[in-house]
Amino acid sequence: MNEFAEKLIHGRVHVSPKRLGNPGPNASQKNQILLAANAAPDHGRMMPWRFIEIGQSSRDALGEVFHQCLLDRDQNATPIQLQEAREKALRGPLLLLAIVNYEDATNEISKEEKLVSLGCAIQNILLSAYALGFGSGLSSGKALQSPRLRNLFNLADHEDPICFITIGTVTQNKLGRIRPSVSDYHSIF
Ligand SMILES: Cc1cc2nc3c(=O)[nH]c(=O)nc-3n(C[C@H](O)[C@H](O)[C@H](O)COP(=O)(O)O)c2cc1C
Repeated sequence: MNEFAEKLIHGRVHVSPKRLGNPGPNASQKNQILLAANAAPDHGRMMPWRFIEIGQSSRDALGEVFHQCLLDRDQNATPIQLQEAREKALRGPLLLLAIVNYEDATNEISKEEKLVSLGCAIQNILLSAYALGFGSGLSSGKALQSPRLRNLFNLADHEDPICFITIGTVTQNKLGRIRPSVSDYHSIF
């Protein structure tokens, strides 16, 4: 394999949003990163996904949802836990919400295929960010299943939020995990 492709695919690692700081991608870099999503395999050309960027001026509104979601789950959450929940929304210069869209007038493409397509689009985004010198991390969490989050982003019934993508400059490096070997996931029939 070409050295660049090898480095790109095997060099990317998950970086916690806590360790992703400024600078984030500039406007042209952000466009390149987002453009990479449209190269994802997409059965039926349905583009069964979209990405919402949570701009700096909207981070507090997301933080409020995280705060309220924690209170919904745990009435006894401490002020520190509530503050931490709120601060999660502030991490990282570029924050995207990845959304799968199950709408399908033909009913021919399964939900699973649509999720696979979103996964491919996400990986393209992560690899493009990495190629531009940025770190990235995915995060999920219980708030994604809450009506509060759906309301905040005005999601349609046929959409589900899947994870957040944070992109920025790596402020602290951590070693990647040990990868599985090919024999762990490949067999010949
Ligand atoms: C849909 C999805 C959601 C994820 N959510 C979280 C998360 O909430 N917290 C976290 O630490 N990592 C999360 N991850 C990242 C994985 O932990 C990470 O990819 C895994 O440890 C493998 O490491 P790598 O990305 O360096 O290969 C998520 C990954 C995926 C695919």
